[in-house]
Amino acid sequence: MDEKIKNLILEKRRYGIKEKVNFFEKKQLKKDKPIQKIIGYIEMANVRIDLSKKVLIPRYETEELIYHAIEFIKKNNYKSVLDLCCGSGFIGIALKKEFDNIDIWQSDIDKNAIKQTKKNLKINNVKNKIIKSNMFEKIKNKKFDLLISNPPYLTKNEILSKSVLNFEPHHALFADNNGMFFYEIIEEKLSEILNKDGLVILEINPINVDWFKKRNYLIIKDINNKERFAFKKINQLQNN
Ligand SMILES: C[S@@+](CC[C@H](N)C(=O)[O-])C[C@H]1O[C@@H](n2cnc3c(N)ncnc32)[C@H](O)[C@@H]1O
Repeated sequence: MDEKIKNLILEKRRYGIKEKVNFFEKKQLKKDKPIQKIIGYIEMANVRIDLSKKVLIPRYETEELIYHAIEFIKKNNYKSVLDLCCGSGFIGIALKKEFDNIDIWQSDIDKNAIKQTKKNLKINNVKNKIIKSNMFEKIKNKKFDLLISNPPYLTKNEILSKSVLNFEPHHALFADNNGMFFYEIIEEKLSEILNKDGLVILEINPINVDWFKKRNYLIIKDINNKERFAFKKINQLQNN
């Protein structure tokens, strides 16, 4: 059996959907449409994320990022979170489902991401504050205990499959300055946007891990043993 059909059947089995692939779905597979987009949603980290708008498909690494954030929130009793570059809304919605008493803001520059996040908030029956903003531009007079982000971080030279290149927004994938453009903006803003003892946690491209180590971030590896998550507390910054 064709590998793509097999994968679609496996994904359907995961969600308890009838394990049949119809003519229309086969046509979509031929055009390299990702199986998650054919099914129309993903379920991870205790949320269902609709993917009907053109947004990035949440990845397993980001599910891991969420589980780390949950531990940090519990340990530090954090009460406010900014999910910057929210895309489908995955991170902020999963956190709100886990902690219904914390104040979560989610932002993205892309109107599709904003629409998708609003739709996913409804589907998951939770409420967060949503802001359409170019990075921090519209996030004014507000500080957070936790800043979490999975910004675009791929370099322009990255080799990607057709299914990614043709079906996911390029502005969600690639970043200038060797993939570091958005982290540079975040780093500049940390002392202003975070409360004292606040924490930043980021999903990163392992090839750029040294940039984070030099700036006092601690690194956590992902399940594939790649240096994927970087975090630090604001008081570490003030000690520098
Ligand atoms: C890698 S995706 C992450 C989506 C989601 N947080 C996740 O983890 O599945 C990066 C997101 O950054 C957004 N983005 C790109 N440039 C931006 C900017 N200048 N300001 C705010 N968001 C931006 C994209 O629209 C995209 O939704």
